[in-house]
Amino acid sequence: MSIQVENITKKYGQQIALNNVSFEVKTGEIVGFLGPNGAGKSTLMKILTGFLPATSGLASVAGLAVHPDRTDFRAHIGYLPENNPLYPEMYVREYLAMVAGFYKLKKTAQRIGEVVEMTGLSPEISKKIGALSKGYRQRVGLAQALIHQPDVLILDEPTTGLDPNQLDEIRRLIVAISKNKTVILSTHIMQEVEAICNRIIIINKGLLVADGTPQSIKQLSESSGQEVVFMVKEPLSQAQLAGLSFVSNVEEKTPGEFHLTASDTDDIRPKLFRFAVEQQLTLLTLSEKQKSVENLFRELTR
Ligand SMILES: Nc1ncnc2c1ncn2[C@@H]1O[C@H](COP(=O)(O)OP(=O)(O)OP(=O)(O)O)[C@@H](O)[C@H]1O
Ligand SMILES: [Mg+2]
Repeated sequence: MSIQVENITKKYGQQIALNNVSFEVKTGEIVGFLGPNGAGKSTLMKILTGFLPATSGLASVAGLAVHPDRTDFRAHIGYLPENNPLYPEMYVREYLAMVAGFYKLKKTAQRIGEVVEMTGLSPEISKKIGALSKGYRQRVGLAQALIHQPDVLILDEPTTGLDPNQLDEIRRLIVAISKNKTVILSTHIMQEVEAICNRIIIINKGLLVADGTPQSIKQLSESSGQEVVFMVKEPLSQAQLAGLSFVSNVEEKTPGEFHLTASDTDDIRPKLFRFAVEQQLTLLTLSEKQKSVENLFRELTR
């Protein structure tokens, strides 16, 4: 089920939270929204789920315009809001029955059984939501997003605050429930988008700054210059390295460990090797740093 976003702008008073954002998501894509705090990710998700009107522009899901005043698109969208708001005093089953009621579902008990099974909630089904661990609360959030069998899932930071084991399980769960669905999720974790998503959209200060596959985003990053880790036994200053014509930037990550950026697209490792020999330095490390989405994210949102 496709999603279309055309020139969406959102202003909160004078502040522009989203600035003329456009993109299209095709059926079956799993898109990761990446961006620093305050970039506009949640705002965009609230607009896409019809909880907030855009100031201008159009959003549509499955060809249906999304707007707080309309209801026809809602059957297509499952939404896990930021911070997963739930009712701690309600029992898991009771809560899911209430959500099923919102969607006027038939065969409610059967459908609750299915989503409980799907999200691994069975052992906790009879507990109050407030008594659940964070990982299980997140499963309740996913179960309510799935209950009406939507073809689009919008998940706002679904893995924030989870321990490494839960993180891994919830990621697996997201991959499993994403089969045959179109998914947009937001996160600050680069490895997460690289692991789950087949497309990455980077948002910064309300602007869409990059859109592509993890591979193409990395290539974008590579075109901005090779990065090499350089360490020698002898004391060396940043200034000595900054004086090299083929180096455009020097960072000393830990004492004596220099990260050098190439000034053009040539491999600078042979030149650094010759430099070390000429200066009679004992080379300890000379290796190319793998460019990750994380690097690009930093470059684009600095
Ligand atoms: N209801 C509101 N009223 C005024 N400003 C708001 C409101 N909601 C969000 N903003 C502002 O809009 C900008 C975008 O916020 P948003 O919550 O969409 O960012 P985000 O990318 O989701 O950030 P985070 O990663 O911290 O969740 C921020 O500067 C925020 O302060
Ligand atoms: Mg947010």
